[in-house]
Amino acid sequence: MEKKTNKKTGEVSRRHFIKTSAATAVSLAAISSGTSRIFAAGSDKIRIALIGCGGRGNKDLKSCLDAGKDIGIDVEVVATADWFKSKAEETGQKYGVAKKRCFGGADAYKKVLKTNVDVVLLVTPPNFRPVHFEAAIKASKHVFMEKPVAVDPPGGRRIIETGELAKKKGLAVVAGTQRRHDSNYRKNQYAVEHGAIGRIKGGCVWWCGGQLWYKKREPGESDADYLVRNWVSFSEMSGDHIVEQHLHNLDVANWFIGHPPVTAIGFGGRARRKTGNQFDFFSIQLDYADDVHIHSMCRQVHGCYKRVSEHFVGTEGSVWAGGKMETNKNIDVPEFPGHKNSSVQEQIDLLNSILKGEPLNEARNVAEATLTAIMGRIAAYTGQLVKWSDLTENSDSQWYNLVLKPTAEDFETGAVKAPPDDIVQVPGEEKEA
Ligand SMILES: NC(=O)c1ccc[n+]([C@@H]2O[C@H](COP(=O)([O-])OP(=O)(O)OC[C@H]3O[C@@H](n4cnc5c(N)ncnc54)[C@H](O)[C@@H]3O)[C@@H](O)[C@H]2O)c1
Repeated sequence: MEKKTNKKTGEVSRRHFIKTSAATAVSLAAISSGTSRIFAAGSDKIRIALIGCGGRGNKDLKSCLDAGKDIGIDVEVVATADWFKSKAEETGQKYGVAKKRCFGGADAYKKVLKTNVDVVLLVTPPNFRPVHFEAAIKASKHVFMEKPVAVDPPGGRRIIETGELAKKKGLAVVAGTQRRHDSNYRKNQYAVEHGAIGRIKGGCVWWCGGQLWYKKREPGESDADYLVRNWVSFSEMSGDHIVEQHLHNLDVANWFIGHPPVTAIGFGGRARRKTGNQFDFFSIQLDYADDVHIHSMCRQVHGCYKRVSEHFVGTEGSVWAGGKMETNKNIDVPEFPGHKNSSVQEQIDLLNSILKGEPLNEARNVAEATLTAIMGRIAAYTGQLVKWSDLTENSDSQWYNLVLKPTAEDFETGAVKAPPDDIVQVPGEEKEA
């Protein structure tokens, strides 16, 4: 029997597969193999839900629906959740979700997980990710989760542990590190892994751009509402911008080199921000062992030189990770699926992995990228050399159990106290100036 394949992705159309399969009458759960539970019983659609209905969440939801169209499968939005019920309802309304399935409040995610949804998209601020991800996997849902996935070392480790549980349960986990789904990056990474530039000896990764948005406190606003609205200004919510934004480039360094760094030293500072407690810029040197050093530079200040990129120098050439390669070597590189929007491609890869019963699991990669960025942030905040083992293995380290507060749990119990605006950590020992 000939199967209809998608020209762009090379995947078999599932709708066609259902129509032509001898098992037409059988539910999708039965025709999909390799995982213990794939679709809600008896459904012929993939049911998705969004937790965190903000700017990116709405984009990710649309990307997932576009991905479904691209590969010819039916994707339906069945529930939404947001801290603010009005936002959950606003998004739900766009996709015909019944109001009773648009949940608000700190426990809205739990209500979504009780529905018969197949895939949840976790797109709240990052401090909530470890708790929401663990709950989603325990509830046997496939997950798309935005980067970053934690703001402190215990959160990063919890993501890795939950990722292992997802593997055991046959659940797919795809992260919002879309460069890993971009065909230009994938081709170059493949070539580098197969020796195109020899052994990587060093490089630079940058996210130097303008400032993001920020929100001022409204009169009478609760600490929790203020932090949720102005999350992108507080380390406790975002991890600081080295974690929240520059993580993308740090992830590329880990991916191309093949492992996370062993130490970080560096510095940073705050010059123009008015709310929150984040730095405006960081300069971090990451030691990847064996004499491999990567310089990581990030800045969020308007009117300065901009660069968002990654460059690596090897013993036999060099490469801009998503662009040009200088080498005399000829490596046979396969084609990779390449939707023009890598944020749609990552959703295509997620859905295809579920359909094939070969679930992708990106939990460790994105957790390691998050921990790399957290290691850089701690190095800059304290002025100390920070080791990977301080965050991952050495429970005697002062940073192993560093928990940023308020925690996700505090938001659920109502014990939220906002850190003061405009007070930042000063590196080194505290001495009179
Ligand atoms: N991959 C990318 O390129 C990319 C781009 C932008 C943002 N992001 C990531 O997406 C995430 C969200 O960013 P955004 O720009 O959409 O922010 P946003 O503020 O626009 O949206 C966040 C939403 O989550 C809601 N929320 C907060 N706490 C919640 C909770 N406990 N339960 C339910 N809902 C909650 C907020 O009310 C808000 O509607 C962040 O992790 C960010 O880093 C990724």
